[in-house]
Amino acid sequence: MKLGIVGGAGLLGSTTAFVLGMRNVVEEIKLVDLNENAAKNQAMDMGQAILPFSATKITAAHYADLGDCEVILVTANASTRQVTDRSERLKDNMGLLGPITKEIKTYCKQDPIVIICANPVDVFTYVGWKLMGSGTGKVIGFSSNDTMRLKWAVSEVKGVDYRDLDGVCIGEHGDSQVRLLDKMTCKGELLTFTEEEKAQVIKLTGDWFREFSGLNVKRSTGWTSGVNLAEMIEAIVTDSKKLLPCSAVFSGEFGYDGVACGALCKLGKGGVEEITLPLNEEQKAEMDFAVSKIKDQIAMVEL
Ligand SMILES: NC(=O)c1ccc[n+]([C@@H]2O[C@H](COP(=O)([O-])OP(=O)(O)OC[C@H]3O[C@@H](n4cnc5c(N)ncnc54)[C@H](O)[C@@H]3O)[C@@H](O)[C@H]2O)c1
Repeated sequence: MKLGIVGGAGLLGSTTAFVLGMRNVVEEIKLVDLNENAAKNQAMDMGQAILPFSATKITAAHYADLGDCEVILVTANASTRQVTDRSERLKDNMGLLGPITKEIKTYCKQDPIVIICANPVDVFTYVGWKLMGSGTGKVIGFSSNDTMRLKWAVSEVKGVDYRDLDGVCIGEHGDSQVRLLDKMTCKGELLTFTEEEKAQVIKLTGDWFREFSGLNVKRSTGWTSGVNLAEMIEAIVTDSKKLLPCSAVFSGEFGYDGVACGALCKLGKGGVEEITLPLNEEQKAEMDFAVSKIKDQIAMVEL
C-alpha cells in the first residue's frame, strides 16, 4: 500500500510521514508539495533517518506519480495567519481543495481514500467529498486531536495515567465538540465526574487551544497531528477495523444528511466502514447543534 501526501513538505505532512514511516506499515510515502525543493529536502533527510527502523521508502513526487496510491492525505494549507477559532479559516481555505481534488481525480486510478485536514475540517471534509464524487466513507476528516486533548485533560484532573484512559470526543472540530465523558473508562472501569471536574476538563481543553494559538508563532500542531494521523492511516492500510474519532460524511445515518461531523468510525480498507454515535439525550442535542453549525458553514461554500 502506498500513501501520497499533498502538502507533504509542511508540518503535518512531514510529521505524519515520519511517524507512519517509522511504523513500517506502508511500502512508500510520496511527498507532493507546491514547494518542490522542500519536498525533496524532507524526502532526502527523512528517507535516511528511518532506514534503521523501517523498509518504508520516502520520496518526493508530483501528482502524476500518485497513480498507485490507495490513500491520499491532504495537508496543504492556504492560510497561515493566526486565528482564535478554526472557522476563521473558512474563507482562506475556500479555494484550496478544488484544484487539489482535480489533480487527485486525474492521476489516482485506485479510487483512493482521501483524508482532509484543512480547517474548519468538518466543512472541508464535506466539500472534499463533494468534489471527489466518491463514496461517503472514502473522504475522511482529521479531528482526533480533540480526543487526545480530552484524555489529556481528564488525566490531569483525575491524576491518572493517560495510557489507562479510553474515551472519545466527537461533534464539531471546534467549540461545539461533544465530549463523551459518561463513557470514559480508566483501566476498563467507568469513570465518574463531579460537576466541578467536568467544568475543569472543559476549561483545560479550551484554555489549551487559546494558549497555543496565543503564542502567535504561526505553527500548527505538528506532533499531535502526526501521531494521530499515523494511527488513522495505519488503521486503514492494515484494515484493522479500529474505532477512531474522525469527521465522517453522513448520508442519513442517525438522521444526519448533507454534512460531515466528528463521529466514532470503524476504519478499514474501505475508509469509514461504519459510523457509531453513542450519544445520551444531552449529547444528542449537542450533536444536533454542531451539525447545524457545520451545515451553516457548508452553505457559505460555493460547491
Ligand atoms: N484538523 C486538524 O486537527 C488540524 C490540526 C492542525 C492543522 N490542521 C490544518 O492542516 C493544514 C496543514 O497545516 P500545516 O501546519 O502542516 O501547514 P504548513 O504550512 O506547515 O504546510 C502546508 C504545506 O502545503 C503546501 N501547499 C500549499 N498549497 C498547496 C497546494 N495547492 N498543493 C500542494 N502543496 C501545497 C505548502 O507549500 C506547505 O509545505 C492546515 O490547513 C491546518 O489548518 C488541521
